[in-house]
Amino acid sequence: MVRLGINIDHIASIRNLRQGNFPDPVNAAKIVEDAGADGITVHLREDRRHINEKDVERLKKEIKTKLNLEMSIASDIIDIACKIVPHDVCLVPEKRQELTTEGGLDVVSNSKNIASAVKKLKDKNIIVSIFIDPNEKQAERAKEIGADFVEIHTGRYADAENENDRIRELEKIKNVSGYLIRLGMGMNAGHGLNYENVSDIAKIAGMQELNIGYSIVCHAVFKGLFNAVKEMKDILKNADRR
Ligand code: PXP
Repeated sequence: MVRLGINIDHIASIRNLRQGNFPDPVNAAKIVEDAGADGITVHLREDRRHINEKDVERLKKEIKTKLNLEMSIASDIIDIACKIVPHDVCLVPEKRQELTTEGGLDVVSNSKNIASAVKKLKDKNIIVSIFIDPNEKQAERAKEIGADFVEIHTGRYADAENENDRIRELEKIKNVSGYLIRLGMGMNAGHGLNYENVSDIAKIAGMQELNIGYSIVCHAVFKGLFNAVKEMKDILKNADRR
């Protein structure tokens, strides 16, 4: 069965709205592990808009599955990863203005800098993955520079506006996954996966792990809202002084 890594960045996004300690992403990680998650994924962004360095340190110490750190190849971020030593790192492109990661890393045009980041991380025995668009040239170069895995960007598949586009994007992912099997390279996928679109990706031969965040956190809001209101009503009922 394909493994499920859960991205808990958005728990930290909610915490940061009030600049306090609640809700605690480490607590969220423990709940998702209890529910069966196989790993915890966080993105330490250069602007620290959700997860911060302290969160990553605490997660490394306190979770019982594995920590997958998504990050850019900025040298200060590489230094943090080499200090904390998560189980896995997934190298992603990063732009300050973007709302979320917008595409795969261009390994073909930037292989020297990416190779140097891969080497530093692998010297610390960190398993390294590179987030790429479903493209054979990118996969091949990721293999050449020593990455252990690629994570295939499923964002365009998830955002497809009609069935023809969805099938075309799915075919691209299937084609690159066949190529990755021939290369003997590990294969994960993620971005924009949700309860409706995940099955076709999970069925792809060779797929090892899916990293999913936003849809699960959104679903949890609606799943939990009814009970959250009920609990508050019960407290008010018990506090009724009349
Ligand atoms: N994988 C990578 C490399 C990502 O950048 C993200 C978003 O942080 C995810 C997976 C999870 O995407 P989503 O939150 O859309 O499920």
